[in-house]
Amino acid sequence: MERTFIMIKPDGVQRGLIGEIVGRFERKGFRLVAAKFLQVSQELAEKHYAEHLGKPFYDNLIRFITSGPVFAMVWEGDRIIALSRAMIGKTDALEAAPGTIRSDFSVTTRLNLIHGSDSAESAAYEIGNYFTPEEIVSYTKNIEAWI
Ligand code: PPS
Repeated sequence: MERTFIMIKPDGVQRGLIGEIVGRFERKGFRLVAAKFLQVSQELAEKHYAEHLGKPFYDNLIRFITSGPVFAMVWEGDRIIALSRAMIGKTDALEAAPGTIRSDFSVTTRLNLIHGSDSAESAAYEIGNYFTPEEIVSYTKNIEAWI
């Protein structure tokens, strides 16, 4: 079982896509274990995107992620890191495969709606940036017992 960090970016929040995106993760069968609606500070943004410092799009990226509230989450599931990246699709909407979140809802490279960790190391780092261990909930799912 893996954990990953998923964040609906300011454009996804502004466009009212939180429910749509969370629904896709729920329907896939993944388990939500933490969530937080927040405004990303300059400091947190620089920490989150530290690996991209110096790249041509870095300043744009920091400006964008701090431009409005985001919905940050931790999800659990078997092979969730690779599977969630597949659900999200490539950065550029033109290259994102049909049926992915970015292909279905995004038209540019910059306003790409959602972030997902790309490795176990990134997931651990990113989860630690946004959540304390106490904010991550442990529970089992048993759908039939709740119907
Ligand atoms: S790289 O160079 O391969 O690491 O780039 P990539 O993985 O595609 O993107 C790294 C993060 O930068 C965002 N990105 C951009 N933001 C703004 N403008 C442009 N042109 C741009 N290109 C890439 C991209 O969405 C990645 O952020 P996250 O949050 O991980 O999606």
